Order: sequence, then C-alpha cells, then structure tokens
Amino acid sequence: MSEAIATAVCLADYECLAQRVLSAQAWAYFAGGSADELTMRWNRSAFDRLALMPRVLRGGPGGSTKTTLLGQEIAHPILVAPLAYQRLAHADGELATAMAADAQEALMVLSTQASVTIEAAAKAGATCRWFQLYFQPEREATLHLVRRAVDAGYKALVVTVDAPINGVRNREHRTGFQLPPDIAAVNLQGLPAPPPRSPSGASVVFSQFVSQAPSWNDIAWLKSQTSLPIILKGILSPDDAVLAIESGVDGIVVSNHGGRTLDTALASLDALPAVATVVAGRVPVLLDGGVRRGTDVLKALALGASAVLVGRPVIFGLAANGAFGVSHVLRLLRDELEVAMALTGCRSVTEIGPHLVRNAE
Ligand code: FNR
Ligand code: LAC
Repeated sequence: MSEAIATAVCLADYECLAQRVLSAQAWAYFAGGSADELTMRWNRSAFDRLALMPRVLRGGPGGSTKTTLLGQEIAHPILVAPLAYQRLAHADGELATAMAADAQEALMVLSTQASVTIEAAAKAGATCRWFQLYFQPEREATLHLVRRAVDAGYKALVVTVDAPINGVRNREHRTGFQLPPDIAAVNLQGLPAPPPRSPSGASVVFSQFVSQAPSWNDIAWLKSQTSLPIILKGILSPDDAVLAIESGVDGIVVSNHGGRTLDTALASLDALPAVATVVAGRVPVLLDGGVRRGTDVLKALALGASAVLVGRPVIFGLAANGAFGVSHVLRLLRDELEVAMALTGCRSVTEIGPHLVRNAE
C-alpha cells in the first residue's frame, strides 16, 4: 500500500488519489457530469446548505446503524450505486467492488452496463445484490437480462428511468473519451437486436432514442413479468413518485444520475422532501447524488430517505486501491455515520428525523 493510500482519511482524499492514477479520459468519464455540471455541484451544495441541530444527553445501550429495506435487515443504510464500466477504473472492476461491498455488509447494485458478467459479480461474494436494469429496445432482450439476474440470485431490480439518452457530456467530449477495446458492457453483447426502424422523428434523438424509450406502460409490463421487487431510480418530481406508486413499484430512488444526464435538474436532496411527503411511507425512498460524508447520510435520512447510494467515491476507492480502496471508502462512510448519529443523539436510524436539520443560510 502506498503511503498516500495509507493516509487517506476521508472520501475526498480518495478523489485526489484516483485523479493521480486514472487517465485524463477515464477521469473525465468517472468524475464528470453533463454540460456545465451545475447539477453535479448542486448535489453537493444542497448538503452543505443544511446545518445540523444536535440533541444531547441521549446516551444508552443498544445503538446501531441497522435498518431494514424491502423487508431485509441491513447493517447500515449505505448502498453501492450502479456504476458502469468499473474495469476502466481497476483491472478487477465490479468483482473488487462486490468483494468490498461484502466486507462492509453493503448492498451493491450491479449496473446493466457492468464490465463483468451478471453471474461473475454474483459469485464474487455472498451479500445480497440488486440488479440495475436499463430497458432494452426489445422486450425479449429486457426479459433475458431479468432472467439472468433472477437465476444469479439478485434480489431486486433497480430500473433507471432518468437516462433514456446520455446527457451533454462536454467534459468527456473535450478529452475525446472512448472506451478501450477490452472494456465493454458484456451483459448486452449478443442480445436480440431491434429491427431497423425508419426515421419517425425530427432528429436522431427523437427517431432513435425517444421513440424507443420506455414509458409507464413498460413498468406495468415488467411488474407482470417478474416477482422481484422493482425500484425506480431517477425520480425527482413528486408527480412521478405518485405515478410510480400507482404503477405498483416497491421503492423509489430520488436521483439525477449524479448530474450526468439533465444539467440544471434540481439537486436530489432538494427534491427529496416533496417526494417523501407524497410517498408517505408506502414504499422506501432512497437518495443518491453528492453523498460524501456521514453527516450527508444523516441529513438524507432526516429528510425522509430510508437509505442512500454512493457513486463516484466507490470508483475513486477502486481506482486508488482496488477492493481495499472500495472497502475503506465504505468503512469511512459507515464510521462517519456512527459518529454523526452519536453526536446528534441518535441511537438508531429511526431516531433520525427532520428535527435535526435547519437551513444554514
Ligand atoms: C453512474 N450512474 C449510473 N446509474 C445507473 O443507473 N446505471 C449506470 O450504469 C450508471 N453508471 C454510472 C457511471 C458513473 C461513472 C457514474 C459516476 C454514475 C449513476 C449512479 O448510479 C448514481 O446515481 C450517481 O453516481 C450518484 O451520484 P454520486 O454519488 O456519484 O455523486
Ligand atoms: C453513465 C451511464 C452508464 O452515467 O449510466 O455513464
């Protein structure tokens, strides 16, 4: 282990370490957002704008970060977000992340665009995994992915709905980012291809992407095809949260894809309270985007999230030191959450509530 890695004491330190080892292109892909990266920045500043109002003299036995999600007990509410092409960060890719998630008892979501197979990622550890599903243009191809996930033991489908098309990734464009030939979305190889379509819209965006993008009917269809719980990832609008519940989904992730799709979309933390209000506890609401500190986890839970997902810091840990780096990143965040709970007077996550947060300005 290099001296620099040994001295990493927080997630931001891993970001610096990762920048040193990644190529300029890979750095642009992993660290960047879309267009002017305002949403990516707002995801962070939304946390920094909230101050904590700690409570004191609330000690006692039995404290823990344990919680339950979709009926399953988990050691802490910090999940690994679905992140594509992890072999671009480290040769061990998603296998290292899966091992680290196991070591830290963290639920991991495997991306449809993983650079290792669904089956290999499942075998890399024993902890429960969820599979992130991108609808494919052909329903048969979508079902094929779902069947593979079921057979490999994945316990839920996280259907990402905020990225029917990539955002305007200027940072990537400036570096001429392209995937190296040995890294690919291996689970999408060999799937039934859609028949050629005649252009039906005004541009390639409309004729190719929008015309094939999923709709609420596809969520109902998917629900009829699988008994796995379905969690929609990429909800910001409370109106969409209502439609999601009406479609029978089992959970919602309030997310703007880490600011990688629609730039100037609102910060996920700013979207959370209204979504949590309309959902009213009927299904779990999770949040991702900008979670970098234990206090961020606590703030998200205070505003109504049942759990959070962490994206880029996992990649940074992976790039810096493989499975050990990811494990350390998750450990740091867990430890910081415990400290934040202790210092705000919360012995269990159920004690974390809106009474703990105030607008800082
Ligand atoms: C992502 N994200 C993502 N989401 C998804 O549903 N499927 C995917 O394949 C990917 N791939 C992906 C790659 C990279 C490099 C990044 C940074 C992000 C989005 C991800 O799951 C999550 O929503 C954000 O990363 C959360 O924001 P933070 O924690 O990175 O700020
Ligand atoms: C991304 C896609 C893969 O954010 O979701 O890069």
